[in-house]
Amino acid sequence: MQPLRNVELKARDHDPEATLAAALGHGAADQGVLRQIDTYFAAREGRLKLREEGGSATLIAYARADEATARTSAYHLVDVPDPAALKGALDAALGTVVVVEKFRRLLLWQDVRIHLDAVEGLGTWVELEAVAPADSDLTDEHRMVAELRAVLKIEDDEVVATGYAGLLLEDGAATPRLVDLARTAMDRAYAPYSHFQVGVALRDETGALHSGANVENGAYPQGACAETSAIGALIAAGGHAIREAVVMADTELIVPCGGCRQRLSEFAGAETPIHLAGPEGIRRTVTLGELLPLAFDLEEARG
Ligand code: THU
Repeated sequence: MQPLRNVELKARDHDPEATLAAALGHGAADQGVLRQIDTYFAAREGRLKLREEGGSATLIAYARADEATARTSAYHLVDVPDPAALKGALDAALGTVVVVEKFRRLLLWQDVRIHLDAVEGLGTWVELEAVAPADSDLTDEHRMVAELRAVLKIEDDEVVATGYAGLLLEDGAATPRLVDLARTAMDRAYAPYSHFQVGVALRDETGALHSGANVENGAYPQGACAETSAIGALIAAGGHAIREAVVMADTELIVPCGGCRQRLSEFAGAETPIHLAGPEGIRRTVTLGELLPLAFDLEEARG
C-alpha cells in the first residue's frame, strides 16, 4: 500500500477570527470545534502517544522519523475504551514526556483540511493539510495550499517546521521529567570509591529522554562519568543530538568535568541548556557555550 502523502503548512496565527472569516469567505466548510489531547509517553523505541479526541481515544505507536519506513506497518493504532486508566498505567510504567492540549476548528476547502488550533501554552495556529491521492505528483496539492495561503495571508516569518510537541519541549515542557530521571539515575549510581553519585538526563532531537549514572571501577581510571553513560544510552536508543541536559549531584553546584563538556559538545550546540541540579531540583541553568567556550570541533579544525 502506498503511504499517504501530505502537503502541509503550519504557522502562527495572530488573528484567528480574521483567518476564519477569510477561509469561510473563500468557500471553506466549517466542520466545528474538537478538543484534542495528545499525551506523549517515554517509549523505549520510537514514539508512543495517546490521542483523545471528542469522545474517543487511540493509542498510536510509531517509529522514529529517521527510521520510519514507507510502510503503514510502521504505525500501530489501538482503540482505547478507557483512556484515563491507560494513561495512568503508561505514566506509571514509562513516564509522560509532554501533553499537547488544543481546541481545533476544522474547515474543509477542496482537498485541503484547514485547522484553526488554540494550543495550551502555545497560542493560536493555522495548519493547512492537503492529502494527496496515490498517483498525484503533488502539483495540485501545492497549488491549493499556495492559493489558501495567499487568501489567509500567512506570512513567511510565521511558518514553522516543528510540531506542537516539539515547540512545547523547546519551551521546557519535559524539564521536570528530566529532573526526575536524573534523580533516579543519581540514586542508582555505582560510586563505592568516591561516594559521589551523579545522575544525568538528556532530551534528544525527537523528544526522547535518556539517562545515565556514573559507574566506577576498582581499577580507578576505568570509571565512567554519568554524562558518558547517558550519551551512550542516547546513541544506543537511536538519538543523534542533545537538546537539553540535567546534571545532578548532592553538592552545592555540580558542574560537568572538562572531559564531559567535550563529550557533550559532540552532540550539543553552544546554546543547548544544561541544568545544574541538586536532589530537590534545578539550581542554575547555563548553556554549553558558557561551560565550554572555544570548544574543539574537528570539522572546524580541519577547515
Ligand atoms: N562525575 C560524573 O559522573 N560527572 C561529572 O561531571 C563529574 C564527576 C563522577 C565521576 C566519579 O565517579 C565521581 O563523580 C567522582 O569524581
